[in-house]
Amino acid sequence: MNQDQLKQAVGQAAVDYILPKLESDTIVGVGTGSTANCFIDALAAHKGAFDAAVSSSEASAARLRSHGITVYELNAVDKVLVYVDGADECNASLELIKGGGAAHTREKIVTACSQEFVCIADESKWVATLGKFPLPVEVIPMARAYVARQLVKLGGDPVHRMGCITDNGNEIIDLHGMSITDAKALETDINQIAGVVANGLFARRPADLLLLAGSQGVRTIYAK
Ligand code: A5P
Repeated sequence: MNQDQLKQAVGQAAVDYILPKLESDTIVGVGTGSTANCFIDALAAHKGAFDAAVSSSEASAARLRSHGITVYELNAVDKVLVYVDGADECNASLELIKGGGAAHTREKIVTACSQEFVCIADESKWVATLGKFPLPVEVIPMARAYVARQLVKLGGDPVHRMGCITDNGNEIIDLHGMSITDAKALETDINQIAGVVANGLFARRPADLLLLAGSQGVRTIYAK
């Protein structure tokens, strides 16, 4: 199977996983990216089985609506049963790097509102140590240079993602050259920098469950 087929397989596996949990009033949290798109497309076949979705990006909201799935604003919702999203990297503790698509701030918010976070990925995302994928940091535009200087002090090499404006109107710095052995501490440290909106580490709130697609099929992995 090629990578696109693995993404389709894991998108379908996520639908199969959540289907028994869905009820007529269920709100499903939906992430962003090419793997999340496969989940959205597979979910569309079951749009009568739940109430609506909340989304972590304008792009995913548009895709959901194109399938006839209702999308609520997060502020209008009390409870999100489950959030399904991809990742750029994942380790055995189910700590993640996210934000390759610049949507990690909203992804963190929807994750925080959700009872369960199911991460979906193909095996290329599985790593022993996080950090080979540059860590995205969303910043208030006027703080970009200051934040970059502070990120250098943390040992990384910050690179402005040119031409990228997030759904929140902010900019992205990609932090290269980090070997992240204490993801919770780094997530906290970066969050303390004035002007940072959110960074792409999901370690303080990791995934609850990983569905990982490989040539042998889709494996279900819980945090060690
Ligand atoms: C979006 O900002 C990201 O967090 C995505 O979830 C992540 O980049 C995974 O995307 P793909 O499924 O396209 O690899």
